[in-house]
Amino acid sequence: MKLSRRAVLAAPVALAACDRFASAEPAPIIVPPLKSIAPCPFGTAVKAMQLDDAEWVALARANVAQLTPEWEMKMEYILAKGLDRPNFDRSDHIAAFAQANGMGLHGHTLIWYAQGEQAFAGLDNAAFDRAFDGYIAALAGRYRGKARSWDVVNEPILDDGSGLRDCHWSRRYGHDGYILRAFEKARIADPEAVLFLNEYNQESVPAKGEQFLRLVERLLKAGCPLQGLGLQSHLWIDIPDGAIARYYGQIAQFGLPIHVSELDCSLRTEKRLDARSQANRIAAQTARVTELADAFMALPARQRYAFTVWGLRDTDSWYRQGDKDDGRDKPLPFDSFGRPNPMAAALANAFRPS
Ligand code: XIL
Repeated sequence: MKLSRRAVLAAPVALAACDRFASAEPAPIIVPPLKSIAPCPFGTAVKAMQLDDAEWVALARANVAQLTPEWEMKMEYILAKGLDRPNFDRSDHIAAFAQANGMGLHGHTLIWYAQGEQAFAGLDNAAFDRAFDGYIAALAGRYRGKARSWDVVNEPILDDGSGLRDCHWSRRYGHDGYILRAFEKARIADPEAVLFLNEYNQESVPAKGEQFLRLVERLLKAGCPLQGLGLQSHLWIDIPDGAIARYYGQIAQFGLPIHVSELDCSLRTEKRLDARSQANRIAAQTARVTELADAFMALPARQRYAFTVWGLRDTDSWYRQGDKDDGRDKPLPFDSFGRPNPMAAALANAFRPS
């Protein structure tokens, strides 16, 4: 009996998901290079120090066609020495690596509620405006012709979806106002880059997803040069079946390119008592990642901008940093040795169905 590709790729997942095989070593998972089967650039987050890690470089060269700086292109790093001493050393290093390896570069991120308050503190309105506009001009201008796209504004919406976040940017320009200004300045700085609004939990928190849709509508009506929608996709294993697919049906309505911009799926949950086995968690993760990738594949080709994971190996994940690390989470497509995880099989299955 000939096994279909889906069955062959899914077999180890099935094995891993069946407790009674828990003692058996699951068969190694074999997937083609993900960039070779993805319907658009397959990307990953990157930290400059990984460029000196030969194993990471080999895994990235084999699987990845685009890079997103994980934190060294953010204001917190660039302006660490103050507004008048921007530091582009590591973002330049990442940009040069991308160019040298034929990889695209997605800029992340120009304006974020979470950063910049200290650097902009104490400025009068005129100075604040010069600094805001100047920062975007300097950063987006520096990578003009190198960055194919930008997260112009990151995470403007409150976690419960009840409205937009208050922050130092909204206090100066208003909630929609700072977003409009940021996009207008980014458009001037780089007329060719695709400009994105980036957010998380749109598909898993209905009120937040609704708020995102309303914000996009308002921005487009206001003539904002918004050209792409970023769904970070930090998935949970307990997102209800169908929720992700339903949201894609809504977000696709704008006809804009969509970037799965920061995919990972932790096996851990907020539940205090969660006795599920690792195998059961991996099966739930596979279901969520499959639903996401299938929904992305169902978009028209022109709306499939890029598909980016927030790191390649489990130990590269922000979920595995510092005291948050439980040593067992497997939120990414490859394990700590660079071997494909069930997530990689789920992605390969969706990108190239049998
Ligand atoms: C995270 C990085 O992964 C961490 O290493 C860093 O300490 C904090 O920022 N949404 C975003 C990303 O847009 O920039 C965040 O990245 C994760 C959530």
